[in-house]
Amino acid sequence: MNKNSDRSVIIGAGFYGELFKSYLTECGVNVIGYLDDTPEYQNTVKRGLPILGPISDLKILKNKYKVNSVYCSIGENVARLYFLKEARKFGLQTPNFIHPTAIISPDVDIKGTFYIMPGSVIQPYAQIGDGCMFSMNVAIAHHTIIDDGCFASSSSTIGAKMSLQKYAWVGIGATVMTGVKILGENCLIGAGAVVISDVSANAVVAGVPAKRINTNKLFVMPKISK
Ligand SMILES: CC(C)(COP(=O)(O)OP(=O)(O)OC[C@H]1O[C@@H](n2cnc3c(N)ncnc32)[C@H](O)[C@@H]1OP(=O)(O)O)[C@@H](O)C(=O)NCCC(=O)NCCS
Repeated sequence: MNKNSDRSVIIGAGFYGELFKSYLTECGVNVIGYLDDTPEYQNTVKRGLPILGPISDLKILKNKYKVNSVYCSIGENVARLYFLKEARKFGLQTPNFIHPTAIISPDVDIKGTFYIMPGSVIQPYAQIGDGCMFSMNVAIAHHTIIDDGCFASSSSTIGAKMSLQKYAWVGIGATVMTGVKILGENCLIGAGAVVISDVSANAVVAGVPAKRINTNKLFVMPKISK
């Protein structure tokens, strides 16, 4: 992208939004502000950038602010993928963000927009779906297929030749052992878990070895504000 014409906006002005602002700026992206639905954020400035309006303002970004690209910092899988798709409908580009210290094999098959933070590694013949986000020091081994909208938190390790289905969410420091075949759609792997067998769709597992846990709150799909 020609730096003179690059005008980018971050969706989400929370902690991850601030992180995106720092990393994107470090990498020479011209970020002009955030979109966020939080009422208290409106008309304020975070880390030197204004909140331009709620996320529904995606539709006016191009004409009002001459914005061409958006990055979505939202950690909730469903919302992140949804807003990326909405942005494209309004003619906005949704570039990848790959921190310069991340190592992505040229033989990784990238299916859409994804974000990867410092120190993460993806081995050859992995496949990465649209709207995925990997935090710092995440390791993804070879031949693993990651479907759209998945998230892996800091220092998680995902073994080889498995399938992470849509919206799978892997907590901080978790390990998913090679030999596991499937992490089911919308499952949640707790912090520090060691997963040694397949995980069903919508299951919440935690512990070593990981087991379904007694949780008083079901893992529900987040609501999306339009
Ligand atoms: C797994 C998780 C979603 C459960 O959250 P929750 O539904 O609020 O669960 P609770 O805190 O009510 O705990 C329920 C039970 O599971 C246990 N538990 C919760 N998280 C656990 C974990 N990560 N490992 C082992 N046991 C865990 C609790 O000790 C409790 O056990 P008990 O019933 O014997 O007392 C959450 O603890 C977790 O690990 N989230 C991931 C956090 C993370 O990685 N954040 C990164 C942000 S970038």
